[in-house]
Amino acid sequence: MNPKEVLRKSIRLKLDSHSAKERRAKSLAIGKKLFRLSAFQTAKTVCFYVSLPEEVDTAFMIDRALRSGKRVAAPLSDLKKRELALYEMKNRTELVTGAYGILEPPPLRERSVKASEIDCVVVPGLVFDKKGNRLGRGKGFYDRFLKGLDRRVPRIGLAFSFQVAEKMPVEAHDEKVDVVLTEREG
Ligand SMILES: Nc1ncnc2c1ncn2[C@@H]1O[C@H](COP(=O)(O)OP(=O)(O)OP(=O)(O)O)[C@@H](O)[C@H]1O
Ligand SMILES: [Mg+2]
Repeated sequence: MNPKEVLRKSIRLKLDSHSAKERRAKSLAIGKKLFRLSAFQTAKTVCFYVSLPEEVDTAFMIDRALRSGKRVAAPLSDLKKRELALYEMKNRTELVTGAYGILEPPPLRERSVKASEIDCVVVPGLVFDKKGNRLGRGKGFYDRFLKGLDRRVPRIGLAFSFQVAEKMPVEAHDEKVDVVLTEREG
């Protein structure tokens, strides 16, 4: 196994033994931090990942962002082009299960959101380090997506503290985040 796969596997084991209760409590704490970030507060259009069951829960963050009047975009995996397409979502009930079991917005042409319209992006990851390096699920979707965004657009990674590593393998194509929010103080 390559070094990235080794690290993914060890973090997946920890995610498997993380209880729903812990996930819920930690996600709430992470959400509070997100809503306190000025980069997030000032953003009119925010791109959110829609969480899988083991990830930092973004469902309530998306609801709150929508209630506060933000425009929320969510990605849809285009398997042929191997890229993420963004669509505006108006509420979570309209999401449908897409590739990799991820809930995705309906791909309505009038709801298509261009990368240039995004003011802030909330990024998932399996592992981050303190420098903002990021390891995803190994398909390169977020690496390609982030590469296509203006580098001034704030990139906010969400993770449980056990997903933050001291050191991790990084390749030239790996895109970083600007900040990693965890449930830990500080
Ligand atoms: N900008 C890019 N252009 C072309 N291929 C890329 C680019 N970024 C990543 N890839 C390819 O994607 C594959 C997976 O990359 P990597 O292991 O870094 O995925 P990851 O960061 O874990 O995944 P993700 O970004 O979806 O969360 C690699 O084969 C890599 O070469
Ligand atoms: Mg990568």
